[in-house]
Amino acid sequence: MSKNKKIALIIGGSRGIGKAIALRLAKSGFDLWLTYRNNHVAAEATKKEIEQLGSTCTLFSFDVSNYEATKTALGKVTDTTAPDVLVFNAGVARDNLMVWMTKEEWDTVISTNLNGFYNIMHVLLFPMLREKRGRIVIISSTSGQIGQAGQVNYSASKAGLIGAAKALAREVGKKNIYVNVVCPGVIETEMTDNLPKDKILPLIPLGRFGKTEDVASVVNFLCCEENMYIHGQVIGINGGLAI
Ligand SMILES: NC(=O)c1ccc[n+]([C@@H]2O[C@H](COP(=O)([O-])OP(=O)(O)OC[C@H]3O[C@@H](n4cnc5c(N)ncnc54)[C@H](OP(=O)(O)O)[C@@H]3O)[C@@H](O)[C@H]2O)c1
Repeated sequence: MSKNKKIALIIGGSRGIGKAIALRLAKSGFDLWLTYRNNHVAAEATKKEIEQLGSTCTLFSFDVSNYEATKTALGKVTDTTAPDVLVFNAGVARDNLMVWMTKEEWDTVISTNLNGFYNIMHVLLFPMLREKRGRIVIISSTSGQIGQAGQVNYSASKAGLIGAAKALAREVGKKNIYVNVVCPGVIETEMTDNLPKDKILPLIPLGRFGKTEDVASVVNFLCCEENMYIHGQVIGINGGLAI
């Protein structure tokens, strides 16, 4: 794979926040590698929008919770090329009170949100270290910072990502790889379609839910800013929901 522009790899880039990040980075001049699970229609539509912005977009469809599938899908391209930017955004929620939570609900969330991070880093980190440069941004959540009733599985996975990112930042900073975390609050996407918004809105000091672009602009800053001394940090994007 020849490399003309800088490459941004978005894990979970077909829809929602990942899509907004992909489009924002395309506007900043990146070519995109975009992964997703199985929503081919959404992924193809996002690819088209990226191409209309003058960037290329390569799609990879695989389940990030599956180590072998992740290695097979990304291993070949990363043999020769490393992305300049890696955004770990894929995530799922299976909300339930802990007392009722099934093993399947626990396992699905941990294996996608947290084990998925291991699977991706295991394929990507060595190639990025080889290049001795890069920006890694991990999408956690306000739930991972302060906890959320009904989301013990999700909060655990997202808090786990924060711990993992802090440790990783200590490992790879000297290799010129920046690692940071962003924690969105309630952002309007398919994931939050069914939340009781009338009950949540009064808790948000800015008086509105977040837009995907609110997250994308912060990620873009972390990926593009040249004068960068932010490393190993956790940045809330939540309208004041958690202060
Ligand atoms: N929306 C919010 O309010 C909010 C708040 C805090 C944090 N977050 C976090 O932000 C991230 C994006 O959220 P979103 O609301 O944009 O979600 P979304 O609209 O449901 O999109 C999820 C993305 O992740 C991909 N994905 C999910 N499971 C996967 C798997 N097992 N293997 C590979 N790809 C997978 C999806 O691919 P397909 O299209 O193929 O399914 C899609 O691209 C998540 O990590 C979420 O936890 C969201």
